[in-house]
Amino acid sequence: MAASAQSLQKRSSAGLLLQLWQSSLGKKYVMAVTGLGLFLFVIIHMLGNLQIFLGAEKLNSYAALLKSNAGVLWGARIGLLAIVVLHITSAIQLAQLNKRARPVGYAAGKPVASTFAQRSILVSGLVILAFILFHLAHYTLGLVDGSWLGLHDEQGRHDVYRMVVLGFSNPLVSIFYIVAMGLLLLHLSHGVSSLFQSLGLRSKKTFGLFDKLAKGAALILFLGNSAIVVAILAGLIK
Ligand code: HEM
Repeated sequence: MAASAQSLQKRSSAGLLLQLWQSSLGKKYVMAVTGLGLFLFVIIHMLGNLQIFLGAEKLNSYAALLKSNAGVLWGARIGLLAIVVLHITSAIQLAQLNKRARPVGYAAGKPVASTFAQRSILVSGLVILAFILFHLAHYTLGLVDGSWLGLHDEQGRHDVYRMVVLGFSNPLVSIFYIVAMGLLLLHLSHGVSSLFQSLGLRSKKTFGLFDKLAKGAALILFLGNSAIVVAILAGLIK
């Protein structure tokens, strides 16, 4: 009796989750929560990468630490992949729902409240996706230059420092990275602010504050990541 009540409860909570996912409110929540996860990832990733300014020893030991436990590493990778897939799926489905709800464009041109970052959010998201695929091929899979994964420092650790310096010694690749970071800035300056709205944290009163926080954080990310690329191109990091 107790077991069947439990399985009924399990089935009804699974049904509730499915119902939530099928509603546009549910998709907005999924997009907001996954967006927050990705935003936190890029901040932590940038802070880790900025250790390149402290020298090879710091960056290589940090990279070795991240890879020291295969279970944790693969758990994080699979979690990140699931978050990316959910974020993109909910974004595309929400765009389709919005289009269905308003098949004809605005009679008087674009909406007053819409900003460039807001209107280009899908396009900037797609370019960031292309950047991530290239970035994985570049550094994680070593598809641009297979010898980079075989670089080792004096302690026998993967020489991530040397790999990054070699990677950004190509000006075309570096320019692509800086353009992608610019699009990430555009994407986050609208995305982070609106995720607070979807989570019910942003009100009319706090709109300005959250908007400024989101834009400030997006700008710091752009400057921090671009500083690495520019410092290597300028020969400050060798
Ligand atoms: C100038 C900026 C960046 C630098 C220097 C950089 C550097 C790196 C390096 C060296 C790796 C490979 C780590 C290793 O195998 O030891 C890596 C992996 C990765 N990066 Fe970046 N990154 C940058 C920006 C970004 C951005 C903006 C994103 C996301 C939008 C990103 C997402 C990733 C992901 C998903 C991985 C794979 C992690 C894994 O191996 O599981 N990176 N990055």
